[in-house]
Formats: sequence, structure tokens, C-alpha cells
Amino acid sequence: MKKQKNSASAAPESDETVAIARLLVIHGPNLNLLGTREPKHYGSTTLAEINMALANRAEAAGVNLECFQSNHEGALIERVHAAGQQGVRYMIINPAAYTHTSVALRDAVAGTGIPFIEVHLSNVHARESFRHHSYFSDLAIGVITGLGSEGYLLALEYLLSRVSAE
Ligand code: DQA
Repeated sequence: MKKQKNSASAAPESDETVAIARLLVIHGPNLNLLGTREPKHYGSTTLAEINMALANRAEAAGVNLECFQSNHEGALIERVHAAGQQGVRYMIINPAAYTHTSVALRDAVAGTGIPFIEVHLSNVHARESFRHHSYFSDLAIGVITGLGSEGYLLALEYLLSRVSAE
């Protein structure tokens, strides 16, 4: 795991270094139910399994990765604000239903300016028309939709290649 100096720390300057999440994965509402929730759309992999696979892959690459899920719009917004303070380099975001509704979460993401990939397990364009619009896609580096839980790992693979090129 990479160690960096925490420039956002309120503590006095010292040589102490703390682990900072370089990559943050944000999961929106109802994704805590993955595994049992509408498997025909979302598959049978649980959120814990997705997070573990992401953590293992990031650790193998020596990159710090943190995952965060909430069913609350305000909590997601505050986690994104904190990411801006913490110097998170990239994010992977599945805003779930907030994809289609939340100007507030969009504004939080735009406000931090942290580059991100938008991921959806299901192919939102093959579903109801209200799922065809995203408040995030025009801000994203790219969008992965319809590849199931594999989409998160593909997004991570891409971001790891960006991190290692920096
Ligand atoms: C989702 C698609 C959204 O339309 C839906 O509200 C979700 C999950 C997906 O991963 O396919 O909760 O983001």
C-alpha cells in the first residue's frame, strides 16, 4: 500500500506519513443489496465480494483503494467532499438511482474535480427510459454499463494504468 504525506491533516507538520486512499469507489443506494437484489439485472455477486476483488487487485498493484456505500444522498455528497480534501486521485462511481435524479451529487463530483469512471452493473440503455439519462456521464472519463460486477474491475484496471503512468 502506498504511503503519502497527508497534506490535508490538521496535525502539525511532521515526518509522519499516513495511508491515503488514492482511489475511491462510491456505491449509491440499494447496492448494499447486491447478491439478492433483482439478480436478472444485477447478478448474484454481493457488494462485499465486489469490494474484496477491488481491494485485492489494488493491493497487488500497491495502490490504496477505499470503498464507500450509502443509501443517503447527503452522506454520498459528504464522502465526495472529503475525497477532495484527502487528495483522492481517481474515483469509480456507481451512483445507482441517483444517476438519474441527483443534481446535488453531480455538483459535488464536479466541485471536487476528481476524475472518475461511471459504472453500472446493468445496461441502463436497455432498460426503462428514465434510466437513459445520467447526470454524471458528461463529467466522467468514461462510462461502463452492462458488464456486471466485471465493470468495476475493468474501471480499476484502467485507473491503475493511469496511476502507474503518472
Ligand atoms: C444501476 C442502474 C440504476 O438505474 C439503478 O437505479 C441502480 C443500479 C446499475 O448498476 O445498473 O440502482 O446503477
